[in-house]
Amino acid sequence: MYIAARVGSLRTCCLPIVSTDNGDGSMDDSTSPDTQWDRTVVAARHLAPFADQRQVKPEYITVMVRGEGMNLWDSEGKHYLDGMSGLFCTALGYGREELVEAATRQMRQLSFCSPYMNFTHPPLARLAEKLFAILPERYGRVIYCNSGSEANETLIRTVRRYWDTVGRPKKKIFISRHNGYHGSTMGSASLGGFKAMHDMGGLPIPGIHHIGEPYWFACTDDLTEEEFGLRAAGELEEKILELGPDNVAAFVGEPFQAAGGFIFPPSTYWPEIQRICRKYDVLLCVDEVVGGFGRTGEWFSHQLYGIEPDTISVAKGLTSGYVPMGGLIISNRIADAIVAGGLYAHVFTYQGHPLAAAVACANLDLLNDGGIVDKVKSHTGPYLQQALRETFSHHPLVWEVQGFGAAAALQLAPVKGEKQRFADEDIVGMYCTQRATELGLLVRASMSRMILAPALTATRGEIDEIVRRLKSAVDRTAQALKMM
Ligand SMILES: Cc1ncc(COP(=O)(O)O)c(C=O)c1O
Repeated sequence: MYIAARVGSLRTCCLPIVSTDNGDGSMDDSTSPDTQWDRTVVAARHLAPFADQRQVKPEYITVMVRGEGMNLWDSEGKHYLDGMSGLFCTALGYGREELVEAATRQMRQLSFCSPYMNFTHPPLARLAEKLFAILPERYGRVIYCNSGSEANETLIRTVRRYWDTVGRPKKKIFISRHNGYHGSTMGSASLGGFKAMHDMGGLPIPGIHHIGEPYWFACTDDLTEEEFGLRAAGELEEKILELGPDNVAAFVGEPFQAAGGFIFPPSTYWPEIQRICRKYDVLLCVDEVVGGFGRTGEWFSHQLYGIEPDTISVAKGLTSGYVPMGGLIISNRIADAIVAGGLYAHVFTYQGHPLAAAVACANLDLLNDGGIVDKVKSHTGPYLQQALRETFSHHPLVWEVQGFGAAAALQLAPVKGEKQRFADEDIVGMYCTQRATELGLLVRASMSRMILAPALTATRGEIDEIVRRLKSAVDRTAQALKMM
């Protein structure tokens, strides 16, 4: 049920994201001419990503000038704690010397070499060793690219190639989910389930179908979370039967929906999805672009649910966002068939770039040998999750805290204890995000879910400060809604 009440009062309160107070005092309000120039040129010369272009005005733009660890500073001297790791990518925080070093060294040594035409370079071999050391043995090969979108574009072509090579060329259809996000290219945006993206460019492309998302809060029927998980997974079986198992190539999903709101599905969901995929010989493909490389305390977030996917799409955390790099990891079953099939007609100029590979190696060294992923699993992750639950479980505006490791979401709702939604969920989430920004905390909202994804290196002290600022932002939102 949607609740319209009180949301109207927030509309007039939404402000441009410009500095007011830091929450901790300090702020320099002077704006240098250079900064004004930066803002003006950017507003005039770019189409801002995923934004209403009519609202992109120089005065709304924040110019970030420095980053260190979890800290960012804008051109006006305002300090922010980055509670979302950039776009869920800066896993090691900003300015990590080991990554800077690896990049500089590699740029000097060999600034470009493509694995095309039987060439290679040492960082690529080292990266294979490090990547497959953290993966179970059933994975055989990886195809590198430059982003999460390209990883999923590669997925579509590679899975179709696989079914061709094993003599089942009719298996071409992909099934994915509403409110899933897989990127912004034609194929990856088609796999995604965002209407606004489909409306731009005539998507989805043929051969991609969607089922419902495993979002229990949005379920209005009287089902337990576990029952709902089975029902949501059951939609896959219905869709496969409707389309014909002989035509369905793969099911694709994020183990937890990231851009969709850090929605962690019921525990019954993924095992049932896997059972259905195996029953109909449909490949199970997980998108770990956000969940990969320790975000949830597991190396890959699907490991939370005990499933064994056939492919894994990765990007972001592979290089901690220092340089672009993505990849599609494929099982031995798929790799062996494609190798036996001969020509694999797929290439990107910057695939396996030496700079990206060198940074990825240094990044994996820190995450693995440096013990950062272990620490998220056993120390800082549980600490963050407990702090959020202690702080927000009884908050009048928070219906639920979800999350694992360094990934969490607060579900905001108008009635404590009841599964009811705000009529204008996006306004509530945006209002809370803006209050957090004023307080010097960068978080993001998806509808009325507040998303938190701090660096995997966050200390307990930093986590305390993130939670403190988030509490103030949620309190201010509740006050504006007259719920406190
Ligand atoms: C789950 C998921 N897959 C794919 C992508 C696309 O990645 P990129 O923006 O690097 O193309 C994203 C981006 O946020 C994502 O969250």
